[in-house]
Amino acid sequence: MKALVLTAHPNLSKSRINRAWFDALSEAADVTTRDLTAIGGGEMRFDVEAEQALLLAHDRIVFQFPFYWYSAPPVMKAWMDQVLNYGFAYGPGGDQLKGREFLILVSTGGPEHSYHAGGYNNFTMAEFLKPFQQTANLAGMTYLRPFVAHGMAV
Ligand SMILES: Cc1cc2nc3c(=O)[nH]c(=O)nc-3n(C[C@H](O)[C@H](O)[C@H](O)COP(=O)(O)O)c2cc1C
Repeated sequence: MKALVLTAHPNLSKSRINRAWFDALSEAADVTTRDLTAIGGGEMRFDVEAEQALLLAHDRIVFQFPFYWYSAPPVMKAWMDQVLNYGFAYGPGGDQLKGREFLILVSTGGPEHSYHAGGYNNFTMAEFLKPFQQTANLAGMTYLRPFVAHGMAV
């Protein structure tokens, strides 16, 4: 099992939990880590063919990010918009990711108890992450249960 970890943090050098994850995962066997902010640069532009080739070379795709305004930082979305395109991830012939696993690794500032009906964040993480779940579904990937580290704000 080879895992591709796509890390979307605007400033990994100032991060605590996401940098710790990134550093630890970078040492792990059969794991490729990618700091999307460093790779995409200020304009968040990706080499689509290279990114797609990397996806095809791995069995499990991991989106790793800090939770920002109930979603991922913009570089994650920029990568998705450019790389998961028609004919590759969906549409005619767009079954290239079919059968791969998809995992979200996310840190939140809010505590676990806030992510429930009646808590100050009102909704569960499973609810907030549904656009990612459906992205995986559309691409034919197996959506694994997200790994969430709560209460990570300094
Ligand atoms: C712009 C911004 C938006 C944030 N939005 C949320 C949020 O919607 N929910 C939440 O629980 N924490 C939120 N946080 C807190 C971050 O999730 C938290 O600081 C981060 O997970 C810590 O990870 P790091 O040490 O890798 O930076 C936000 C932080 C920033 C800077």
